[in-house]
Amino acid sequence: MSLYRSFLLLLCCVYAVFSGANASDTITSDEPVRDSETVFSRGKTFKLGFFSPGNSANRYVGIMFNLPPPTPTAVWVANRDKPINDSSGLLTLSEDGNLVILNGQKEIIWSSSISNSMKNSTAQLLDTGNLVLKDNSNGKVLWESFQYPTDSILQLMKMGIDKSTNTTALLKSWRSLDDPSVGNFSAGIQLQYIPQAFIWTNTAPYWRSSPWDKQIYIGLPEMKSSYHSGVDLVADNAGTAYQTYSNGNQPWILYYSLNSTGSYQDKVWDQSKKDWVVTWANPRSECDIYAKCGAFGSCNPKSSPICSCIQGFKPKNEVEWEKGEWSGGCIRRTALDCERNKTDVEKGKKDGFLKMQTMGVPDFVI
Ligand SMILES: *[C@@H]1O[C@H](CO)[C@@H](O)[C@H](O)[C@H]1NC(C)=O
Ligand SMILES: *[C@@H]1O[C@H](CO)[C@@H](O)[C@H](O)[C@H]1NC(C)=O
Ligand SMILES: *[C@@H]1O[C@H](CO)[C@@H](O)[C@H](O)[C@H]1NC(C)=O
Ligand SMILES: *[C@@H]1O[C@H](CO)[C@@H](O)[C@H](O)[C@H]1NC(C)=O
Ligand SMILES: *[C@@H]1O[C@H](CO)[C@@H](O)[C@H](O)[C@H]1NC(C)=O
Ligand SMILES: *[C@@H]1O[C@H](CO)[C@@H](O)[C@H](O)[C@H]1NC(C)=O
Repeated sequence: MSLYRSFLLLLCCVYAVFSGANASDTITSDEPVRDSETVFSRGKTFKLGFFSPGNSANRYVGIMFNLPPPTPTAVWVANRDKPINDSSGLLTLSEDGNLVILNGQKEIIWSSSISNSMKNSTAQLLDTGNLVLKDNSNGKVLWESFQYPTDSILQLMKMGIDKSTNTTALLKSWRSLDDPSVGNFSAGIQLQYIPQAFIWTNTAPYWRSSPWDKQIYIGLPEMKSSYHSGVDLVADNAGTAYQTYSNGNQPWILYYSLNSTGSYQDKVWDQSKKDWVVTWANPRSECDIYAKCGAFGSCNPKSSPICSCIQGFKPKNEVEWEKGEWSGGCIRRTALDCERNKTDVEKGKKDGFLKMQTMGVPDFVI
């Protein structure tokens, strides 16, 4: 071997040590991931490693787009509720084949928690951003990060319920920019009559998309024109209802994420700014908040106050309504004909229907 080649070899190894790169896209018990190391997907679209979010000093294992610093936005976090407090963490495979994170004391602080022991398995970070655990004896996928989203959805991920694979995937917001543990907001698809996307705060509805008309959510007409939509919804009569999206073959890097204050947004990578740009976010106005004005209330973000009762209705509780507590909603000023004594019904004043325009459709459309 020539001196020159040895020199090259030396250079390469020095580089590998300092860059902390794990040469392959796989994790095995022989090739674990230490805190200083990073695994790259084959096409280098995604990377996986330990990180500290925001101003936190805690260490978490996350999957990130492989983009230039300083934007290590994690689109998936393994140990979101159980950080490591130093750099002694290790991501490896346990003897029973599970993907695990160990702390410095070799305690398991996170596990893929597959119950069937398979002894010989490998985890691989795919170019889709999916971390997949496979049984080497038969190549079967035992576990994948796409089934356990944190607060973000990537292409090919399903948000919602897929009965064919028995999986339910909800987004759950971080607590804050510094803390990826489960926060107050979650997002998913509800299939009561016609599928709708929902955001909940704890268990109460916080926002809904309005029904899916097989192309767009009808309450979000901007989806029709938006260049980045690509959103699709799959639903059947067996209880499957999930949302996916695809970039097509467009060059932009885009993902959807639910932030810690309940805003679902699409984020596009801006190469010139070297940062994410939010191109769409909800709620778009206060009127988007679920039942903001209560039953029979009407919300108009351009009015002040934003809530009013629809024609023929009055606030259920005038005092609260005046204070801007609108959630109690409105009640009829006069009972319907059919609810009143026939003799009381004034002559010539019959109940009828009123056409209301530019309203959202109710939650219970059938
Ligand atoms: C870090 O975590 C370990 C294991 O949970 C614990 O024993 C140790 O006291 C912690 N150190 C600090 C500085 O909190
Ligand atoms: C595990 O599987 C890999 C790939 O099939 C194989 O190369 C390796 O020898 C196996 N290891 C053990 C301990 O069986
Ligand atoms: C889904 O889960 C249920 C209950 O855990 C089980 O009975 C059913 O066989 C599973 N179906 C599939 C397709 O895995
Ligand atoms: C979550 O909601 C509770 C109750 O409304 C509130 O006290 C708490 O501050 C919220 N937590 C976060 C992280 O926003
Ligand atoms: C969440 O997104 C909304 C809308 O873009 C923004 O106003 C809010 O500040 C964000 N919250 C956090 C904690 O970044
Ligand atoms: C209807 O009229 C009868 C007789 O005047 C009265 O007893 C009854 O309470 C009335 N019902 C209602 C719903 O007002």
